[in-house]
Amino acid sequence: MAGEPGCGKTIFTIHFIYQGVLDNEKSIYVTTEESRESIINQASQFNMDFEKAIEEKKLIIIDALMGREDRWSLQSLDIEVLVGKIIEAKKELGYGRARVAIDSISAFWLDRPAMARRYSYYVKKVLSKWNFTTIAVSQYAITTSEAFGWGIEHIADGIIRFRRSIRSGELKRYVLIEKMRQTNHNRYLNEIDIVPGKGLVILGPVERRKEDLSLPRDVFKKIIDTKKKSDVEIP
Ligand SMILES: Nc1ncnc2c1ncn2[C@@H]1O[C@H](COP(=O)(O)OP(=O)(O)O)[C@@H](O)[C@H]1O
Ligand SMILES: [Mg+2]
Repeated sequence: MAGEPGCGKTIFTIHFIYQGVLDNEKSIYVTTEESRESIINQASQFNMDFEKAIEEKKLIIIDALMGREDRWSLQSLDIEVLVGKIIEAKKELGYGRARVAIDSISAFWLDRPAMARRYSYYVKKVLSKWNFTTIAVSQYAITTSEAFGWGIEHIADGIIRFRRSIRSGELKRYVLIEKMRQTNHNRYLNEIDIVPGKGLVILGPVERRKEDLSLPRDVFKKIIDTKKKSDVEIP
């Protein structure tokens, strides 16, 4: 999953994990961008009680923000340490289907982007063996518009892309499923909203715009030119 800042990625992962809690799956949330408290607080704004889920041993939040010493905190942004900690959390929660959200996975290769593909392959290989459904947030580098770094989009079974834009002075957010292996999915760019008390809500597909349907300018010009020529030649 990828997208610019503030377009709803973290909130989407919170929904994904809470659904796991409701479905009685072992649920694990890894946060590298915000503290554990911040995630719990954000969830509570949408009536998702993460504290209760933690108490009931349905959820573990792994804090990778550093500077903490408790059992569910990471002391370094090392991909093998992360995978080890996720498996430890799974053992703690017990047998059965499990889901994990990693927000974000790019934090683990920020200083070595060339490792992105190898690292993400390793994460996929190990966690799928442990019966995990994994969703990972990939940060969008504003400078290069390169969201994934070195081809991890080929390794992921699905890609969900978040976007934002400003229309008539208002911030709008969108979501597009770009890939979902073995699934016939919605192919429209859908507008979303983030609603207090509810969280992420899908408003519906964005109306097709003229530029979606019109031909590229040079092709259009060729057609006009050809038409003009034939108008002259044919009396
Ligand atoms: N309680 C809330 N009510 C309405 N909108 C909210 C609420 N909490 C957060 N938001 C919106 O969600 C945005 C953050 O979304 P988030 O998922 O954290 O973005 P990112 O893609 O950077 O992870 C905020 O900038 C704000 O616009
Ligand atoms: Mg975020």
